[in-house]
Amino acid sequence: MEIKAAIGDITKIEAGAIVVNFFEGMKHPEEKLATIDKVLGGAISQLISQGEIKGKLNEVTIVHSLGQLPAARVVVVGLGKREELNQDKVRGAVAETCRRLQQKSIDHIATIAHGAGIAGISLESAAQAVTEGALLGVYSFRKHITKEAEYGEIKQLILVGSDKAELPLLVQGSNKGKILAEATNLARDMVNESANFMTPKHMAEMATKLAETYGLEVSVLEQEQMQELGMGGLLGVAQGSQQPPKFIVLHYKGKDSAETDVALVGKGITFDSGGISIKPSEGMGEMKGDMAGGAAVMAAISAIAQLKPRVNVMAVIPATENLPSGKALKPGDILTAMNGKTIEIISTDAEGRLILADALSYAKKLGVKFMIDVATLTGACRVALGDIYSGAFSNNQGLMDKVITAGAEAGELIWQMPMHELYREQIKSDVADIKNVGGKWGGAITGAQFLAEFVGDTPWVHLDIAGKEISEKEQGYLVKGATGVPVRTLVNLVLSLAK
Ligand code: BES
Ligand code: MN
Ligand code: ZN
Repeated sequence: MEIKAAIGDITKIEAGAIVVNFFEGMKHPEEKLATIDKVLGGAISQLISQGEIKGKLNEVTIVHSLGQLPAARVVVVGLGKREELNQDKVRGAVAETCRRLQQKSIDHIATIAHGAGIAGISLESAAQAVTEGALLGVYSFRKHITKEAEYGEIKQLILVGSDKAELPLLVQGSNKGKILAEATNLARDMVNESANFMTPKHMAEMATKLAETYGLEVSVLEQEQMQELGMGGLLGVAQGSQQPPKFIVLHYKGKDSAETDVALVGKGITFDSGGISIKPSEGMGEMKGDMAGGAAVMAAISAIAQLKPRVNVMAVIPATENLPSGKALKPGDILTAMNGKTIEIISTDAEGRLILADALSYAKKLGVKFMIDVATLTGACRVALGDIYSGAFSNNQGLMDKVITAGAEAGELIWQMPMHELYREQIKSDVADIKNVGGKWGGAITGAQFLAEFVGDTPWVHLDIAGKEISEKEQGYLVKGATGVPVRTLVNLVLSLAK
């Protein structure tokens, strides 16, 4: 979909559809809708008085203009109560609208920047939200479907402003929205891809390609180098698999300094069977998405490279499968992580923390200022927060607050969970420094407490996105399948740290 900004009167635009809005509780059409209503001989007013247009959030009404307007159709999208509007509702409403129009094979549409000037939404953020909503809402993953899609894609969306001075703001907002949405869709593609394609090697190849495209520096460490660095966690998890592990590092340089400011670390388990502590077969296929954290940090750093903030960022992705075999890691085994700490394996299914132990140690050794890790780490976090909020854990409240704000801006909800040294008791081992499972209770917290052993006092936030990486249903700008969470949060955060 091509997205363009233009200045003019939307009612004069020739398109398959022009998209305007209506708020819940209003009695009469206002502004653009009032003009359209007049041209259509009061059709909109009638639909409102008959209760067909109520303005409820995501309500989409399609009215045919029957030659009265240059555009074939007028679409009235409900935005809910005016005072309750926010950027995320705009994203969702535009997504629902675009999907409806796409199903009707309407391929040229024009829209206003919904929400601009309402409830504190600037024109720029409205343009951004509309762009994100459109691109995220019509996303689909059809790579392995040989049958042609039932309907074509929307080819063009024109964002229409009324005043010349608005054009640069529309363009800026829309460009940023496009970069963020495309990065999110890239992460979605990676998570939706099946594990026989999305191997550690393939992730490394993708990283290399992204580096070429966006001017990032890339290095992929192989098994030998992992051994030299003492990455016992990653090697331990990988030893049961036929696929060689890859330790992927991407660097974005936004300023002239050798130091790295932010490390984004993402769990890259391309398939999690549980290993010898094997998972039940039901739903195991979902575990192809266990590299969602890795996908998110790869996509985020690609977006960052396009937005060019003055900050140095690194993405670190330890990538491997977690499979059982005669060579696999076993419960009772003891591993030594890169920072020298020894780990007793209670369950080979608590593998994410083992590979992150090395990745966090690696970033820490480079002396980064801030570390964020993203992982589909624990079923316990999904039990605690359901499919809406991601859990966040931190040793630094200032950084935590920034992450929560960045998430809210993106519409990716983040809930702070506690950390306390008392939880450390649960991961004490009798035979090693720590063990990889902290017992039955507080599993998301003991998982985070385990990771804390590898970050020391470097300001760090751990995002547990288990369950948030896939959506079971289509809703707003989410479609069934991968969500691309928390790509936009990570980008917003890095932009805020650059200020
Ligand atoms: N990848 C899983 C966690 C997960 C669960 C992700 C559901 C997405 C949806 C992780 O590696 C895992 O298996 N965790 C175990 C940890 C336990 C053994 C301490 C879990 O949550 O059961
Ligand atoms: Mn697991
Ligand atoms: Zn896992």
